[in-house]
Amino acid sequence: MTDLSAAAAQANLKRVRTRHFQSAKQNGVKITGLTSYDQLTASIFDAAGIDFLLVGDSAGNNVLGYDTTLPVKVDDLIPLTRAVAGAVTRAFVVADMPFGSYETGPDEALHTAFRFMKETHAHAVKLEGGVRSAEQIRRIVSAGIPVMAHIGFTPQSEHGLGGHLIQGRGEGAEQLLADAHAVEDAGAFAVVLEMVPSHVAQRVTEELRIPTIGVGAGPHVDGQLLVWTDWAGLTTGRIPKFVRQYANLSGVLTDAARNYISDVAGGSYPAPEHEYED
Ligand code: KIV
Repeated sequence: MTDLSAAAAQANLKRVRTRHFQSAKQNGVKITGLTSYDQLTASIFDAAGIDFLLVGDSAGNNVLGYDTTLPVKVDDLIPLTRAVAGAVTRAFVVADMPFGSYETGPDEALHTAFRFMKETHAHAVKLEGGVRSAEQIRRIVSAGIPVMAHIGFTPQSEHGLGGHLIQGRGEGAEQLLADAHAVEDAGAFAVVLEMVPSHVAQRVTEELRIPTIGVGAGPHVDGQLLVWTDWAGLTTGRIPKFVRQYANLSGVLTDAARNYISDVAGGSYPAPEHEYED
């Protein structure tokens, strides 16, 4: 088992493109993705070799101070996406289309996709929904814009779905498969499967030609995606079961803030080396 960044290094890959997602699936190479909402994390993750960065509408509850993704607007995400796209040299940047920016039909969806592509320099857009969003995906793809689909648990529909619930269980597996085939037929280059039982995600992965990207969908998918603030331990609230935390940034920053407060209060900061001479 290898990952796309190792394979890319061997092949001297300069920029990840949609065809690399496809070849990764064909060659059994795992695809890696994280969210990012700013220039600094984008540049760090890019230099580390991440394959794609999603400027998710999860910015709503990670950056913008909302409880959910529902209030997020296109105008909220444009500057964040521009910052991420401008900071990477290799990673593929996906712009998330927020709630209310594509549901009324293909024309609205294409208009929103055009805005992201022109104003942010992202490389693709993502939108939620399977069968219900297939016509939107088809129209955007027909304009030459790659689309990453998103099925399973779709946070923009959390109220319609009755909360943060696993999707595709029991008889729901058939609906999930129908959604997966609908987005593939509509031309999506990859599909995110969020909060889906592993064996169902495996079946989708085996049936589809396009790569599946799991967020809480187990190991039998073509790639993994996590919200970076959960993954790095910056989030202090409830963390979903499927997240492995690779750092404890909230602890590091809490210690740093406490040390700074105490140094300023005690007079040990600023020290002579921090002062300017005449
Ligand atoms: O907005 C987001 O971060 C997402 C991922 C969780 C898939 O849509």
